Amino acid sequence: MQTYEKLLLENKAWAQKRIEDDPEFFERLSHLQAPDFLWIGCSDSRVPANEITGTQPGEIFVHRNIANLVIHTDVNLLSVLDYAVVHLKVKHVIVCGHYGCGGVKAAMSNTSYNQVLNMWLRNIKDVYRHNRQELNNITDENLRTDRLTELSVIEQVQRLAKTSIIQKAWKERNAPDLHGWVYGLKDGLINPVYEMKANSEIDPLYEYHNL
Ligand code: CO
Repeated sequence: MQTYEKLLLENKAWAQKRIEDDPEFFERLSHLQAPDFLWIGCSDSRVPANEITGTQPGEIFVHRNIANLVIHTDVNLLSVLDYAVVHLKVKHVIVCGHYGCGGVKAAMSNTSYNQVLNMWLRNIKDVYRHNRQELNNITDENLRTDRLTELSVIEQVQRLAKTSIIQKAWKERNAPDLHGWVYGLKDGLINPVYEMKANSEIDPLYEYHNL
């Protein structure tokens, strides 16, 4: 059997089990999704949003990319954010990074990963530059990487608050709250490192007054 065929077999078994536990499960979900959460996580296969938060299909709207970055020109990310915030009206947006992130490690190195990845990871290098003094003072390389991971998550949350999508939602419905979390591959635990409640103060330079 090919490896991908196992996925299809497992899928059949999973669907069967779901129906046994809750005969209406698929029928109910097929009509409506009303998740409270938007999850912006790393594509890393070891950080599955639903599994590590004990949530079910229908509970979390998910966007994943390499190193969970919020890039203000990324049409993919912005479409997901717009849909989740404006249409699904999620109550919380969570940016979840993880310790041991390959993207963060790559950004800390001087290796070229060819232009597209270089372009993407450059955003993390910028976070390093903005926090150079603090990071350079950490002598242990793993601890330095961990701290950059946390600082990057904080930066991504702040970038969310700079979008007109979030600012308009804050004005109209005093939500969503923004959260920055870092998941530990070694212990499976999430470390909440940052939070911006709805209508938190932001740098006036990025404030829109005509929303
Ligand atoms: Co990662």
